[in-house]
Amino acid sequence: MASVTSLGDSVQQHLASALSATLPEAAGADPLLRRSDRADFQANGILALAKKAKANPRELATQVVSQVVTGGVIKEIEVSGPGFLNITITDRAIIENLAARYADEARLGVPLSARPGTTVIDYAQPNVAKEMHVGHLRSAVIGDAVVQLLEFTGESVVRRHHIGDWGTQFGMLIQYLDEHPHELDHKESQVSGEEAMSNLDRLYKAARKLFDSDEEFKTRARRRVVDLQAGDPRTLAAWQKFVDESKIYFFSVFEKLDMEIRDEDIVGESGYNDMLHETCRLLEESGVAVRSEGALCVFFEDIKGPDGNPVPLIVQKSDGGFGYAATDLSAIRDRVFGLKADTLVYVVDARQSLHFKMVFETARRAGWLGEDVTAYQLAFGTVLGKDGKPFKTREGETVKLVDLLDEAVERATAVVREKDTQRQLSEAEIAERGTQVGVGAVKYADLSTSANRDYKFDLDQMVSLNGDTSVYLQYAYARIRSILRKAGDIAPQAHPELELAAAERALGLHVDAFAETVAEAAAEYAPHKLAAYLYQLASLFTTFYDKCPVLKADTPAQVENRLFLCDVTARTLHQGMALLGIRTPEKL
Ligand code: ARG
Repeated sequence: MASVTSLGDSVQQHLASALSATLPEAAGADPLLRRSDRADFQANGILALAKKAKANPRELATQVVSQVVTGGVIKEIEVSGPGFLNITITDRAIIENLAARYADEARLGVPLSARPGTTVIDYAQPNVAKEMHVGHLRSAVIGDAVVQLLEFTGESVVRRHHIGDWGTQFGMLIQYLDEHPHELDHKESQVSGEEAMSNLDRLYKAARKLFDSDEEFKTRARRRVVDLQAGDPRTLAAWQKFVDESKIYFFSVFEKLDMEIRDEDIVGESGYNDMLHETCRLLEESGVAVRSEGALCVFFEDIKGPDGNPVPLIVQKSDGGFGYAATDLSAIRDRVFGLKADTLVYVVDARQSLHFKMVFETARRAGWLGEDVTAYQLAFGTVLGKDGKPFKTREGETVKLVDLLDEAVERATAVVREKDTQRQLSEAEIAERGTQVGVGAVKYADLSTSANRDYKFDLDQMVSLNGDTSVYLQYAYARIRSILRKAGDIAPQAHPELELAAAERALGLHVDAFAETVAEAAAEYAPHKLAAYLYQLASLFTTFYDKCPVLKADTPAQVENRLFLCDVTARTLHQGMALLGIRTPEKL
């Protein structure tokens, strides 16, 4: 289906031709068009142009206005203040625009990006043999929304789940398993995520205890790390058992999160093991990294510790071991040269920002990140408890992600049950919706604040029916669907000949803004902009529904046209929520 020219773009074109007719040297200048509260649009660009042309801004504005063709898209254009232009759109143009969007069921007329590229996005990266926590939730939720947004604009997206599946802690685990060989054997063929995690946890604790108390075990465990990095088959087989058991657990959590994670996209730290020596050799030969006290280090002018001494990025430790940095540098080589990415995005906790700053700078110096490749850490803030402190259990332990999700679903289920005063829903329906509302609430709370900010994890607020919550949006959607069902045989139908009420115009203009919102949210990796848009859409719909009777409107044409406004709003809500990874149940 063809993309639809937005009302903003049409106005922009009208202004551009009026501008170049008035002031030929201003051809191509930006009239700085914005959606506005005073009129439908406002253009503020005349001021700067007048200054440049040494003209009186109000006079120039008046001349431009006289050149604008009105009647089609633009109903009225007038000069205001020192030389702003206030623009009102015709009712016909609004409905015709929405009708064109409505006809494009798959994309609502949203254009594809003019210059799509290849983005590798690193998100949802839990650690093997460890419980997932709220930080992993943020990475998964934000990353998934960004993937959906980018793919919707036509970008080729390669997903990478850089799980923590390598490193010294595995020596201890493998050695323990070797000495207690049946600890990860399953009696049943199917193991639940929960069981898998508790198996791993039990093993981890036992291995740790031995490691801390038994010097000889410690030595054997350390030797095992060397075997692992050298690729000893028996050691690798034991390691694989931990990875497999962990994946059972990860996938169960991702499923709870209603998120599709594919096994082939999981390329953890271990996936770059074969590249580590080469990465170090290249860095050392080019002089980007130097030996310092036996370790291979990269130094930076502007990065110093509290004592004023430079803090290096350590690529290889003095004992020959590789760490997090070596893996990330190798991953960059793979993503740029192997996967041919022109953009790398990392959805990772802001507390790792220094690491990425150093890694990116190192890769630039080494020539792996050229001018045509962008590397960006989409850094997210910390999840806080109601008290404003980092989110912990009463005992001071990190909160398990699964417990949080379960609680969110429980509360949401209670809300759904309470709202169902007519007792129309079966128990199964209540459970299904409770899940969709609860998981949606958690995702939306995360996505509706800008990622770099810390946010408070407040379940009461998240499942509240009032305010900026996913439940509010889901109810708006379900309400519209119920109106459409009640309409029975009357089909939604656009009637461009009708005069619109103020609430209809406001709603219609906002529906048109979906396309530019998606483009902006994708370009800036800012799902919160889409969330804010959707919240406003639901609010404008509520106002419309209060002010404008739909099924009891004055004329049959008006009933059809209002049903049409309802439907195009519903589709926009549905599409927008889907891009955020949130379900919109038909009934609530
Ligand atoms: N596994 C890491 C953690 O739990 C996050 C990995 C981030 N990605 C990366 N390429 N370093 O903190």
